[in-house]
Amino acid sequence: MENIIKDIDIISAEEAQACDFKTTVEENTGKSKKLYIESYGCQMNFSDSEIVASIMKDNGFDTTSEFEQADVIFLNTCSIRDKAEQTVRKRLTQFNTIKKERPELTIGVLGCMAERLKEKLLEEEKLVDVVVGPDAYRDLPNLVSQAEEGSKAVNTFLSREETYADIAPVRLNSNGISAFISIMRGCDNMCSFCVVPFTRGRERSRDPHSIVKEAQQLFDQGYKEVTLLGQNVDSYKWSAEENNKARLNKKEEVSNIVNFANLLEMVAVISPELRVRFSTSHPKDITDEVLYTMKKYDNICKYIHLPVQSGNSRVLDLMNRTYDREWYLERVSKIREILGEECGISSDMIAGFCTETEEEHQDTLSVMDIVKFDFSYMFYYSERPGTLAAKKFVDDIPLEIKKRRLQEIIDKQSKLSLERNLLDVGKIQEILVEGTSKRSKEQLKGRNSANKVVIIPAGNLKAGEYAKVKITDCTPATLFGEVVA
Ligand code: SAH
Ligand code: SF4
Ligand code: F3S
Repeated sequence: MENIIKDIDIISAEEAQACDFKTTVEENTGKSKKLYIESYGCQMNFSDSEIVASIMKDNGFDTTSEFEQADVIFLNTCSIRDKAEQTVRKRLTQFNTIKKERPELTIGVLGCMAERLKEKLLEEEKLVDVVVGPDAYRDLPNLVSQAEEGSKAVNTFLSREETYADIAPVRLNSNGISAFISIMRGCDNMCSFCVVPFTRGRERSRDPHSIVKEAQQLFDQGYKEVTLLGQNVDSYKWSAEENNKARLNKKEEVSNIVNFANLLEMVAVISPELRVRFSTSHPKDITDEVLYTMKKYDNICKYIHLPVQSGNSRVLDLMNRTYDREWYLERVSKIREILGEECGISSDMIAGFCTETEEEHQDTLSVMDIVKFDFSYMFYYSERPGTLAAKKFVDDIPLEIKKRRLQEIIDKQSKLSLERNLLDVGKIQEILVEGTSKRSKEQLKGRNSANKVVIIPAGNLKAGEYAKVKITDCTPATLFGEVVA
């Protein structure tokens, strides 16, 4: 399938599930022990690994990029689809061989799979020593000590408050230009296919002051782009009264309720030189206020990840997405009205959800045609134990049909991506240079506001600089340009 280009945003189900991320920052500050972390799943998980590294650093661990040198190996895992869990199990078997040679090695499973399986993971995967859910990372040093003393350790307590607001993440996989900031945790939506509400717990928003402080510090360190992360950023909500009674008692300045639009603005005003992105937006919650705030600030990037999942209202209802096709299309019209044609819109799509008919699948293809997504993450439905869909519906679409429908979605997206990219050819756009291109040292890679990768000749530019670029050519996944004066 030559039209599926890995690493550039058109991702087939298999490839997306195989994505992983390893400790790439070797930190040697003379600490006595070494930690190696490998992360799977979404950006929020990668962000959590940076919090984990920070907690471990304060407890005597440097990070290493070589697992052979590690005293502790953590796998920060994902449960979103069955394949994601299988990948982790395979990796654990590989680590088994090292553990046999070095029994003193501690192996921990963190994240969503840990939360989903809890103690069962210790029974299933005998070599695992520590199992820790997403809200229990402060307990890691203690749990690792217990494991070192020979007893297996588990903490999968889910919190209603934990946001790790006070922990300064160790940037593990950063280019020094872009960083991710978690603004909330958990999810209160109950999309029937989704395991996240079970693995991540209740939705809670992080203190906006700590978010702004983190963004400011990143900017002071030379970062030029921050991405605000949450499963549903549009429902971000923080109030001094509810979220932080301590602050209230101290009679400090108390702000009213801060919603996502307010937060975006608070981060955007740090500097016009700091780009602000966010993900993920939920079609039921994205407000006009957010769109107008995006319009008001040039440095808030004109790009929205707005997963539709399906283009058919009956299927959306079964998925419990709480919007229908018309609602989704109205939100897209509003984006176009306020932010114009150039605003990037991307989506997630699930092929072959329970009882989906051929006609309903066609509705997904037609919604894609109407919206013209710039790119999408595309999957076929994978039943997850414990979810509403697993309890209420039969996973009745045969695998071959799911795969065929998914391929049709992928092919459609590839055409649309090319169509959308062709519209950029001839235009002059501002890009933020992120580094050298993977293919050639003579080329630089940057991104435009709509989140598209733009390749330019290296010239005199450096990573972290902005450049005005004329787009000269494109593929479905990449734009090519040259710098204009
Ligand atoms: N909070 C985000 C999605 C997070 S999960 C949102 O609401 O859009 C990322 C994507 O994985 C989802 O958008 C969905 O397309 C996909 N996904 C989730 N559960 C799935 C399942 N059981 N089978 C296949 N894909 C799934
Ligand atoms: Fe899952 Fe839905 Fe929450 Fe997204 S909004 S994380 S799909 S339950
Ligand atoms: Fe996976 Fe958990 Fe993220 S299930 S997608 S790592 S929230």
